[in-house]
Amino acid sequence: MTEERTVIVLAAGEGKRMKSATPKVLHPMLGRTLVGHVLAAATAVRPDRRVVVVSRDAKSLTDHLATVAPDAVAVVQEEQLGTGHAVRVAVESAGIVAGTVVVAFSDTPLLRPETFAGLVEAHETAGAAVTILTAVVDEPFGLGRILRNADGEVEAIVEERDATPDQRAIKEINAGVYAFDAALLNPALGKLTTQNAQGEEYLTDVIGVLVDSGRIVQAYPAADQAEALGCNDRVQLSALRAILRDRVNTAWQLAGVTIVDPATTWIDVTVDLSPDAVIEPNTHLRGQTSVGSGAVVGPDVSLIDTTVGENAHVVRAHAVGSVIGPRVNVGPYASLRPGTILREGSKAGTFVEMKNADVGARTKVPHLSYVGDATIGEESNIAAANVFANYDGKNKNRSVIGDHVHTGVDNTFVAPVTVGDGAYIAAGSVIDKDVPPGALGVARAQQRNVEGWVKRRRAGSKAAQAAEAAESQATSSGDDPATPTTRGNTSDE
Ligand code: UD1
Ligand code: CA
Repeated sequence: MTEERTVIVLAAGEGKRMKSATPKVLHPMLGRTLVGHVLAAATAVRPDRRVVVVSRDAKSLTDHLATVAPDAVAVVQEEQLGTGHAVRVAVESAGIVAGTVVVAFSDTPLLRPETFAGLVEAHETAGAAVTILTAVVDEPFGLGRILRNADGEVEAIVEERDATPDQRAIKEINAGVYAFDAALLNPALGKLTTQNAQGEEYLTDVIGVLVDSGRIVQAYPAADQAEALGCNDRVQLSALRAILRDRVNTAWQLAGVTIVDPATTWIDVTVDLSPDAVIEPNTHLRGQTSVGSGAVVGPDVSLIDTTVGENAHVVRAHAVGSVIGPRVNVGPYASLRPGTILREGSKAGTFVEMKNADVGARTKVPHLSYVGDATIGEESNIAAANVFANYDGKNKNRSVIGDHVHTGVDNTFVAPVTVGDGAYIAAGSVIDKDVPPGALGVARAQQRNVEGWVKRRRAGSKAAQAAEAAESQATSSGDDPATPTTRGNTSDE
C-alpha cells in the first residue's frame, strides 16, 4: 500500500519585483500560469490532496485555483513569516499527520513531472525523513547552499545571507522542492526559530533538525539545472519562457513535427500536434489548439483554441475558437473569430474575416469579405467583397446560403436572409429578400450613361482630349464608340 501523499505549494509571497497589479504566480507562460505549471507537474506524484498556501486578499489566486485545480485547498498564511512558517500553517490547517508531503514553490515553473515523480520515488524507497531536490548551478547567488559532511551526506542548508564566504562558494543549491515524511516533519516544524538574517522561520532549517534526529536526509539531483530557476521579475519571466519554448519545440520535433524556426515558434504546453505537421516561422499556437498531419501552419500565424485538420494550409492568419477542416486554405491575411467552422476543402482567403460562420465543404471565400453569423452550403463561391450584414443595431441575425451558389462581387446580405441552392446573385446587389433555389437575385440601380458629359463639363481636360481622340479614331475605323459592352458584368441580365 502506498502512503498518503500531499502536495503543498507555497504561493503567499508578494512578488513585488514583478511591479504588477497581477499576482506574480498568475502571470502566464505558454499556456499556464506560473503556479499552474507547478501544480500540473506535481500531479505526477498522484497526490491524494493538494494544498496551496496563499496570502490574505488573494482572491484572484483562489479564483484561478478553482478553475485549474478545483480539488486544491487554499490555506491562508496571514503574515509572510517564512517558508517554514508557511508549511507549518498548511500542515496545521489541513491536518496533515502521515504519509509523504511534497513541498514546492509556486514560482519555479520549469519543474518537470518526471522530477516530482523521481523525487518521491527516491524518498519513499529510502524511507527518508526528507529528500531535497538539488541542482548544481553556475550562478548560485541568492540560493540556499547544500552542506555535506566528509562522507558526502547532506548536513544542512544554509541561506545565502547566513552563509560564510566558504559556504557561498558551494554550487550545489536547494531547488526548494522537498519530499518529507509527515510524521517527522510536524515535530521538526515546531522547533524552527527566527534566529537568522531575515528573522523568518526557514523551512531549510528543518533539514538540520532532521539530521540531528539521526534520520535519513538525502539529496535528489535535478536532471536539468533550469528546473531550479525561479521567477522574480519580468526579465526572468521571459528567460524562463524561452527555456520552456525550446523544451516544447524540441519535444515536438522529436515526435515528428517540422518546426522550421524554433526561436520564433511559441507553442503552449496545452497544444497537440500530429506527426508531419509543419510549423513555419513566427507562429504562435495557444490554448486548446491542435494541428493535423500534413498541415502547414505559418509563417506569421496565431491560432488560439483552434483545430487545424490534415493537409490544411494556414498562412499569415489569426484564428480564435475556430475549426479549420482538412485540406482547407486560410490566408494570407485572414481573421477567423470564434465559432467559425471551415469544412473540408473550403477556403477563407485574403482579407477575409469570419465569425460564427459555418462554411460548407469546398466552398470558397477567396477575397475581401466579412462572413458573420452565416451558414454557407457546399461548393458555393462567394465572390470578392461580400458582406454579411448580421447586425441591425439591436440583434445579430443569421444568413443561410445554399449549395452551389455563386454570389457576385460586392454583394451585401442583409440578415436574416436565405439564398437557395444553385442560385446566382448579380454583382453589386444588396440582398435583403430571400432568393429561391436556381434564381438570379438582382438588387441594384440601373446604369445610365450621360453621353458627351466630359466634353461639355470638363472641356480642355486630358480626359476630354482622350475622349475626343477615341471618338475620332472610332469614326475613322467605322466603330461606334457608344456601343455598350457586357464587360464588367458577372451576370446576364
Ligand atoms: C528559498 C529557500 C532557498 C532556496 C530557494 C530556491 C528558504 C528559507 N530558502 O529561498 O534555500 O534555494 O528558495 O528558490 O526556504 N513563501 C510563502 N510564505 C512565506 C515566505 C515565502 O508562501 O512566508 C513562498 C513564496 O511565495 C515563494 C516561496 O515561498 O514562492 C519562496 O520564498 P522566498 O522567500 O522567495 O525564498 P527564497 O529566498 O527564494
Ligand atoms: Ca526570501
